[in-house]
Amino acid sequence: MSAPVVIRGGTVAEAGWTAPADVFLAGGKVTALAEPGTPAPRGVTEIDARGMLVLPGGVDPHCHVGFTSGDFTSLDDYAQCTTAAVFGGTTTIVDFAIPRPGQSPADAAHAQRARAAGGLCDSALHACVVEWDETVPEQLRSLVADGMPTVKMFTTYRGETMADEDTILRTMATLRDLGGMVVIHCEANHIIEDTQTRCSHDGRIGAEHMAATRPELAETASVAEVLAIAESLRAPVYFVHQSTPEAVELVAAARRRGVAAYSESVAHHLVLDDSLYAGATPERFVCCPPLRPRPVVDGLARHLATGEITTIGSDHCCYDLAQKESRRSDVRVMPNGLPGVETRLPVVFSEFVTGGGLPVTRFVELTAANPARANGLYPRKGTLMPGADADVAIWDPSAQWTITSEALHMATDYTPYEGMAVTGRPRTVLVGGRVVVHDGVLADPEPRGRHLAAGPVTSPGGRTRAARASR
Ligand code: URP
Ligand code: ZN
Ligand code: ZN
Repeated sequence: MSAPVVIRGGTVAEAGWTAPADVFLAGGKVTALAEPGTPAPRGVTEIDARGMLVLPGGVDPHCHVGFTSGDFTSLDDYAQCTTAAVFGGTTTIVDFAIPRPGQSPADAAHAQRARAAGGLCDSALHACVVEWDETVPEQLRSLVADGMPTVKMFTTYRGETMADEDTILRTMATLRDLGGMVVIHCEANHIIEDTQTRCSHDGRIGAEHMAATRPELAETASVAEVLAIAESLRAPVYFVHQSTPEAVELVAAARRRGVAAYSESVAHHLVLDDSLYAGATPERFVCCPPLRPRPVVDGLARHLATGEITTIGSDHCCYDLAQKESRRSDVRVMPNGLPGVETRLPVVFSEFVTGGGLPVTRFVELTAANPARANGLYPRKGTLMPGADADVAIWDPSAQWTITSEALHMATDYTPYEGMAVTGRPRTVLVGGRVVVHDGVLADPEPRGRHLAAGPVTSPGGRTRAARASR
């Protein structure tokens, strides 16, 4: 059990407000937010947070740990991924239990949960459905009861994880009635395969052509189709890694019609653009959906401020350079995805809070509170209100530093942000009331991370009528 602590002199930032406050922690929980200078009982350890923001630890809703796809498995385990997460100010990750071909959703979930040990912070899991059969409803019922109410689906990656429309519809309807939600990767596979075939005929299938091989239209078309299913069913749906403003706007328009539909964006789509594919190392930036042209990136980022984006994840996928380089001549067989669990919060804070005037309250909403809500983890996670877990990022908003892969802790040898100058970083990170990282040093390596059983998902936005209420 963690000893009592008070974090003094900082400015607490929640999703809805900021205020100077002292934060009292005991027994692994937040016990009080108090007037600055409130006397502490004897024996309480004081942490000086003057000049700092005191934030709820980040919640990363999209994090692949040891993820196998095609011939490649990403390189981290829970110990490595959560260590990197905590160094970056994130104190809860949500991983995926993706079935291998022929494996059931329940077996995949149990296998991935068995790997979820040795973490420095807590984790939860999205289950995943690829193919419908008569056993799926009962599997979903028991997965939801077992704390996995969110179920990943894909409209792409044929032969691996792609689900057909009937499977998506049935899974969505079943989850709607169980208090769960489909979380979905939308790219219309037929458009992508056809585009890739044409690119291949023209000799344009290497990593430098990544953006052309997965067009924006494929994402727009798939989002529209899945939204139609959700609207028809009055079921909630959460779109992962939306990479274009059009995709986000389709979801926002559906929300205005009463659909409980949510947009996740990820840090690299908000910051990096497709000019990187023209550089010397295009393979380092190969991810799905691909990086988009600068006007698209800027259009997407505008929706951080409009409120239309619900959450920011990392889509962390920890391949190293040898893996990325080995198939760089053909994006159809390359390992997709970028490492990012550690850089998500600093990059987003620097670009959009320091550099773009995004209120820190919105930063907390996007990176902690809303991911916790959308994943059935709120108010245990994503807030510092009394009763929440004592996961805290004491954030230095004016620290200036340069991102280099050498100084990061992810199980890879590169970062897509190499050399980027950023402002703002976590100075001290507490997990369950214990200081785990302080001034860039691991202060407590004891693996106390727990697997979280998520409850029913709650609406992450004030403007949306919940699906059940709208039926
Ligand atoms: O390129 C990506 N995003 N790789 C990870 C798997 C996925 O599609 O989320
Ligand atoms: Zn995806
Ligand atoms: Zn992903």
